[in-house]
Parts: sequence; C-alpha cells; structure tokens
Amino acid sequence: MIHKRPVLWITRKLSDKTEARAVRDYDTILEPEDMPASKERIIEMSFKVDAILPCHSEIFSREVVDQFGDRLKIIANHSVGVDHCDLEALAKRGIVVTNTPDVLSDATAEIAILLMLGAARRAVEGDTLVRTGQWNSWSPSFMVGHQVTGKRLGIVGMGRVGQVVAKRAAGFDMQIHYHNRRRLDPELERGAVYHETLDSLLKVADVLSLHCPATPQTNGLMSQRTLSLLPDNAILVNCARGALVDESALLEALDGAKLAAAGLDCFEIEPGGNRKFSNHQNIFMLPHIGSATFETRDAMGFRALDNLDAFFRQDEPGDRLV
Ligand code: DGY
Repeated sequence: MIHKRPVLWITRKLSDKTEARAVRDYDTILEPEDMPASKERIIEMSFKVDAILPCHSEIFSREVVDQFGDRLKIIANHSVGVDHCDLEALAKRGIVVTNTPDVLSDATAEIAILLMLGAARRAVEGDTLVRTGQWNSWSPSFMVGHQVTGKRLGIVGMGRVGQVVAKRAAGFDMQIHYHNRRRLDPELERGAVYHETLDSLLKVADVLSLHCPATPQTNGLMSQRTLSLLPDNAILVNCARGALVDESALLEALDGAKLAAAGLDCFEIEPGGNRKFSNHQNIFMLPHIGSATFETRDAMGFRALDNLDAFFRQDEPGDRLV
C-alpha cells in the first residue's frame, strides 16, 4: 500500500539539517529566496499544503485565516512566540498550532545578558570610538558605566527564558526579583523575590529584563507610567517582543535621564527598528537575534518537525497550543 506523504511548506530558509530532515520525511516546498511570505501567498498555500512550518515573520491574522482553504491542518511554528498567529481564529478553523519552547532559552538568555552588559558598560560608544579612530585619550573619568554586580535584576515573566536569565545573572551576584502570573515553586525560584504586582517589581529593578509574551494584555507594558516607577538610572532590557515597550515613552525616559541605558533586540517595527534610536549612544541594539545560534536553529527546526511528526502519526504534538 502506498501512503501519500503530507505536503509541507517551509516559509523561510531554515538550518541545513532541518531542511534535510523535512525533505526526507515530507513532500516539502522550500523557499530559497527567504523572504517573509505575503498574506496572499499564505492564503494561496493553505489550499495546497497539509502543513506550514513558518517563522514569526509570517502573519496569520484573522483576516488571513478567514480566507484559508480546507486543506491546511497544522501550523508548526519555528518560534516560541506566537503573537503572529491569531490563535482564536485558527482554533475556530480546526487548525492545530504548535511552537518551540525550551530549546531557545539558553541562546535567548545569552542575548539578554549581552544586552544588559552592553547597555550598562556603554558598548556602542566604546566600539564606535575605537572603530572610527576617534579614541585619542584615556582618563579615570573616561567611559564610566554602570556595574551590574550586586544590583537588583527585575525579571518580568519568569518562564523558561526568564529562569535561565536569572541563573546566569546570579553569576554576577545580582539579586533576582520577578513578577509572573503565578509564583514559582521554591526549587525553581532559587531564592528570587516574588512581586505580586508589576508596579512593586519596577520600584526595585536596577535592571529590568522583559521575558513575557506579547498579548493584548502585555502590549505597551512599559509605558510612560511604568517606566517612571523604575529607580533612577535603571537599565531596560528587551529581547522578548517590541510590542511590550512604548518606544516614544522609552525615548522620553532616556532623554529625561530616568533610564541610564537600554539594551534592545526587539522593536515595534521589524525588520528595521526605530530610526529615532540611532543617535542615542546609550541604546545597545541587535536585530532580533535572541535565538540565532547554530545549535538553537537546529533544535528549533527539529522541535517543529517533532510536532509535525506527532501530528501526522495521529499523536498529540508535545507543543500544541490549539
Ligand atoms: C521566537 O522564537 O519567538 C523568536 O523570537 C524567534 O522567532
């Protein structure tokens, strides 16, 4: 008996190992041009394929999902964040959605620490001075930054990434405080101080690092009001989602010297970022590369394929969201 293999569309260029496994196990449509898929293309493919393996760059809005054909059965995301998917609309169409938790926590936590240190120790200014040949003096008052050792790190969202960030920051003897929807068990908390409200956390966070998903409830979480609660000279780190931060309020807080610096891997508009940030030397910026390591890209691709494999052998995918 010949079993027809499911047809899988992979929207972006993934790791070689991921693509090789996908081609081995599915009738796979690859996109060598590696551009974000338009909504027209996503709708068109929903009539032609059984499964899509997209990234956060493909937007499955209600408007798009409402125009889907009947063939598509599963969206196995190559991301932990699923704010690009209207889960309610997808559930209504009976389309299964999965993500890739756990496997990117270490890589993303590394970026959070890099952003924290880069922002605190003036990495942009220092690099620019040396790189452009403008480093022509040195004195004890030159390029003085903020030390993070022993400071209070506030973590918003103590999920998988937040917990790894806490562990790494403990290596700098930082005191860990956090706010989460629910308090963690003591063995996961590892001595971190729980704050029932965001406001309570903000008041003590010398460094604040965001690790919660972007949802209608968390969009604009860091606003003029919430930023004003931080201690003077605080540092904001965001490698979660740009939507969490009101970027105009952030600029005001930096200009008004409420914040000493910010480290950002995520922006309201991506790709591109915010051009108004460019002349702020105290904003250390990266282009959404939290999970961009060779190891993690393979792991994310394999996790997405594991979810697909489970679905097509009629098991429950481990990371099923709807
Ligand atoms: C994620 O997994 O959500 C990262 O932002 C990369 O897409």
